[in-house]
Amino acid sequence: MTTDDLITQAKQVLRCNDAGDFTPPSSTQYPHQWNWDSAFVALGLSHFDLPRAQAEVRSLLRAQWRDGMVPHIIYHERASDYFPPPDFWQTQNLPHTGAVASSGLTQPPVLTSVIRTMHERLVSAHGSQWLNFLREVFPRLLAWHRWLHTARDADGTGLPCIIHPWESGMDNSPLWATALDRITPTDLPPFKRRDTIYVSPDERPLMPDYERFVYLIDQGRRLRWEPRALLERMPFLIQDVMFCSFLFRADADLRALALALGEETREMDDWLARTRRVFDARFWDNARGIYLDYDARTRTPIPVSTCAAFMPLFAGLASETQAARLVAEHLNNPAEYAPGTDSKYRLPSVSKREPDYSPRRYWCGPVWINMNWQIADGLRRYGFDALAQEFDADSLALMQQSGFREYYDPRDGTGCGAPQFSWSAALTIEMLAA
Ligand code: DGY
Repeated sequence: MTTDDLITQAKQVLRCNDAGDFTPPSSTQYPHQWNWDSAFVALGLSHFDLPRAQAEVRSLLRAQWRDGMVPHIIYHERASDYFPPPDFWQTQNLPHTGAVASSGLTQPPVLTSVIRTMHERLVSAHGSQWLNFLREVFPRLLAWHRWLHTARDADGTGLPCIIHPWESGMDNSPLWATALDRITPTDLPPFKRRDTIYVSPDERPLMPDYERFVYLIDQGRRLRWEPRALLERMPFLIQDVMFCSFLFRADADLRALALALGEETREMDDWLARTRRVFDARFWDNARGIYLDYDARTRTPIPVSTCAAFMPLFAGLASETQAARLVAEHLNNPAEYAPGTDSKYRLPSVSKREPDYSPRRYWCGPVWINMNWQIADGLRRYGFDALAQEFDADSLALMQQSGFREYYDPRDGTGCGAPQFSWSAALTIEMLAA
């Protein structure tokens, strides 16, 4: 298949999944709007349909809560068999929530970085039309960043905490195993899983994890999704390296957008300086030469190696020495992440050495196209261009071989999860057309 054929097919996926002014990640498995998915989709769309890319961003931000949060699932009055349905969350009619039905959680903040990339590429050709759009969305982005740095700040560091594994985007990552093991999911509201109807149960979270996901939603609704109460009471409270890295990069990108609009940047400067001050002390494990997540409930590091550990490269938070160690000791180590006898494609989302590594089970090991794309971006930042190229080549080879799947088995490239997956298609366009 030629590059042009792949781009054509990727555009077809986005067109097929298009629901008007938003694009579900998959029309069967995830039939509503998801926060970070829509950001990646907007980036892909911006190459061939800028008005539609802008509509994608607007529909996401329309669901912003009054307190600034941008939710992780937005339902937009679309009927579906998805669980949880909109009313399960009990987010409506609270003083701080939004007018559009949504979940009570947020998701990794990649939207601002996507808009900055679009800005660099589009401002000269689209001038005032683009700047008007930027002026419209800027205050909403700022409000979301402010919310992340305050409403989710449990310890005065400004590093946001996540209160549910779904907020990380890496729902059933082994990163959460110990924190979830502490939870006994009693008095669960009645529910029926729907996620194993379209995708094989072998590729989805195990039932004990899923019960805890539902239990945590129930805790959130009992606390009426009130940020202070969530920080004090949610049994799951984690500072995730990937989430915090994305926010740092997004803060820097927001600053660049502020400068383009002639806006004040002091607040962003403060966030950036504060994160730089605390990041290494909180996350860097010098003995292992890797970043580790932090359990803010038990105040202990989480000694599990996953793709999250490489996102400080995407953020520009790693020093040259740290970057070199991440590459030499982990990314290029065949016992952990590099291709070798037991895997062929970059990048297993969990180190092959981890006891919970499972190459087909969702976030326990499969290759994800967005992770590959973000790590490759980070590697280029640190001069590892040839390695970055290997990441892009593997992503494209996987999609050529198995289609635009949600994730892939790193051993043989078998496509897993949902087919016709929107962000895999969108990032193909970004990789090939940029
Ligand atoms: C799901 O339903 O598995 C989603 O990932 C939740 O965000």
